[in-house]
Amino acid sequence: MPRKNRSEVPRSQRPVPEEVRSRLRPPLAVVLGSPAEVVNLLADVGAAGATCYQMDLHQAERLRAALAERGLPAAVVTLPDLWDLPADFQSAAYLPAHGGERELKIDMVEQAFHILKLRGAFVVWSSYEADPFFPSLLKKIFGRAHVRHAGADSVLWAHREGERPRRRHEVTFQARVAGGPSCRFLSRPGTFSYSRFDNGARALAEVMQVEAGDRVVDIGCGCGTNGVFAWQHAGPGGFVTFVDSNVRAAALAEHNARQNGVGSFEVIATPAVRGLREGSYDVALANPPYYAGGAVARLFIERARALLTPGGRLYLVTKQPGESAALLEETFGAVEAFENRGYMVLCA
Ligand SMILES: C[S@@+](CC[C@H](N)C(=O)[O-])C[C@H]1O[C@@H](n2cnc3c(N)ncnc32)[C@H](O)[C@@H]1O
Repeated sequence: MPRKNRSEVPRSQRPVPEEVRSRLRPPLAVVLGSPAEVVNLLADVGAAGATCYQMDLHQAERLRAALAERGLPAAVVTLPDLWDLPADFQSAAYLPAHGGERELKIDMVEQAFHILKLRGAFVVWSSYEADPFFPSLLKKIFGRAHVRHAGADSVLWAHREGERPRRRHEVTFQARVAGGPSCRFLSRPGTFSYSRFDNGARALAEVMQVEAGDRVVDIGCGCGTNGVFAWQHAGPGGFVTFVDSNVRAAALAEHNARQNGVGSFEVIATPAVRGLREGSYDVALANPPYYAGGAVARLFIERARALLTPGGRLYLVTKQPGESAALLEETFGAVEAFENRGYMVLCA
């Protein structure tokens, strides 16, 4: 079994290993990473000319603020795909999340290959003493991989030696709600509920009441399942706005709305549910994430309150009904609760 020892000190506070520093040359791309980790890296190796790739606008904003605070002159870009960047980079550094999504790691390594110049270096700073995953992945994609232990971490690197076809990591799944028409959804790594229709989303879609002609906002839409199912009730006189801070999710929602025949819709990628017409929606749908100590649920509830018409309804699905119900009561007044599939769907 591979060892998985981990340093007590977070990677954002550990010195950058010499094995990483010595292989990074400008222009440098930094692939994902938390704001604190990216700042820690760039403060050491140099930020001039560096481009930091992020998939989420909220995370990108936090990173820009953290870089500005340290006076580090790196650019931050958000794109649905890393390989949308030009193949101009002499090196790319990847600081994968410890225990993070396997498919996202594969996708980022695959895409990083395509943004490197010939002989450009791809460097992984792994927080595993003996990384169980990247050696074979780098070998598969780059043809050859090098590994060095660096204290409680390991560092892996490889060079781009030629061309390879662009390989997408994506899954299409089929779903239907309450005997309605079946829909196909494209999903990609790094977005919620990769490869399957989430049970919480299904619980929400089964309980929501959407009338013909309703204007619906799907807040934190992911790949767009809930808004697409809402459209089945709203029909040709209705309208759906899909909103997410993750630009890859927003691109998928656009694709899925189109493929499933949603006739009238818009997709807005925004870090904090801004840029939508307030007081104009009959129904808001939300399946907020549980991270960030309820801050995202609070944001979704407050924005839903502002976006709904008087008499408009918010449906929010959660496994932590106490916290969300209190927030909803504070913001909306009366709240109804429906238990479905082990989730609570709150209607306010
Ligand atoms: C639990 S997922 C739900 C996805 C989809 N609605 C579903 O039910 O399958 C939460 C979604 O909220 C998005 N999100 C998180 N923070 C956000 C923010 N500040 N603004 C907009 N969307 C956000 C995430 O990117 C994610 O797609």
